Amino acid sequence: MATCWPEPIVSVQSLSQTGVPTVPNRYVKPAHQRPVFNTTQSDAEMEIPVLDMDDVWGKPEGLRLVRSACEEWGFFQMVNHGVNHSLMESVRGAWREFFELPLDEKRKYANSPDTYEGYGSRLGVVKDAKLDWSDYFFLNYLPSSIRSPSKWPSQPPKIRELIEEYGEEVKKLCERLTETLSESLGLEPNHLMKALGGEEKVGASLRTNYYPKCPQPHLTLGLSSHSDPGGITILLPDEKVAGLQVRRGDGWITVKSFPNALIVNIGDQIQILSNGIYKSVEHQVIVNSGMERVSLAFFYNPRSDIPIGPIEELVTENRPALYKPIRFDEYRSLIRQKGPCGKNQVDSLLLSR
Ligand code: OGA
Ligand code: NI
Repeated sequence: MATCWPEPIVSVQSLSQTGVPTVPNRYVKPAHQRPVFNTTQSDAEMEIPVLDMDDVWGKPEGLRLVRSACEEWGFFQMVNHGVNHSLMESVRGAWREFFELPLDEKRKYANSPDTYEGYGSRLGVVKDAKLDWSDYFFLNYLPSSIRSPSKWPSQPPKIRELIEEYGEEVKKLCERLTETLSESLGLEPNHLMKALGGEEKVGASLRTNYYPKCPQPHLTLGLSSHSDPGGITILLPDEKVAGLQVRRGDGWITVKSFPNALIVNIGDQIQILSNGIYKSVEHQVIVNSGMERVSLAFFYNPRSDIPIGPIEELVTENRPALYKPIRFDEYRSLIRQKGPCGKNQVDSLLLSR
C-alpha cells in the first residue's frame, strides 16, 4: 500500500483560520452529494431511538428495544450508559485544546496512509478526490500490544491519561454492549464476542474529529457519507454543535444529541456477522459557518486476522448467508485506499444468487 498521500496535506483548520470567503474547489462536492439543510417538518421531528440503559441491561424488554433500533436504524443514543460524564467532558475538552495548538506542534504527529495513526486531514489516497472539511487525530487503542502512547499528543498535559481513562470506560461499555447485542440476536451472551475474536484480541481505535467553521457549508461536508467499517462505534458528540446526519430512506436525519448521551452505531462487521439482520447505516457530517465542532469516535473492531462472516446460527434456509467472509485487516485496507464511499464496501461482499 502507498505510504504517502497523493497530494500535499492542507490542514482545514488553518485554511478556515485564514478567513477564506469561499470553499476551495477541492472541497466542493458534486451537487447530488451536497447536504440538505431545509428538512421538512416531519423530518425535523424524526429522531434516532434514545435508550435508557438502566432499562436495557439484563431486561428482556430492553433486548427488544436494542433489536429494533439495530434493525431499523443501525443507530441509537444511550443515556445512563455508565461512562463518567465529567470524564467525557474533560477528554473532549483536552482534544479541543490540542486542536487549538499551533499547526507546527500538531504537525509533529502528521500521519501517513499506511497506519493512519496521528494527525491528518484526509481519508483515502485517491488522487484528485474531493476532500472533506475536517481534520482528525487517529490512534490505536486495542489490542494493547499495538498501543503506543508516545505517538499520542503530549499536550495539553493531561491528555494521555484522559485518553487511557476514557478508553478503559468505553472498552468496558463495548464489552457489555457486545453481550447485549448477542442476546438481542437470540444468541448466548458470549457468542458475539467469540465471533469477534475474543476480548483479548479485539481491536479498538479512537478518531477525534475536528470540523472547523466553514464559509459555505451548503457546498461541502465535514465527513462524506460512509458506514463505519468496524464492529461497534461509540460516538461522543460535541456538547453544543449538531452535525451528524443519519440516512433515513432517501433523506437524512440530523441527530439532536441528548445531554451526556453517547451515540452507538452498528458497523459493517456486525452487519456481516448478523447476516444482515443488523444494519450498518450510512451517515455523514455537515458543517456550519458559526462554530467549530469536536467529536470522538471510538471504533470497537473484530480481531483483524480471522475471517469474519455470518454467524452460523443466523444462517437458515430462509435466510441464506448474505456475505462472503473477509479478514478485517483486508477490509480496512480497502477502505483506507478509497476513503468514505457510502455502503459500497460492504455491498461488494454480497454473495450473488
Ligand atoms: C466517524 C463519524 C461522526 C461525527 O468518525 O466515523 O461518523 O459526528 N463521525 O463526527
Ligand atoms: Ni462514521
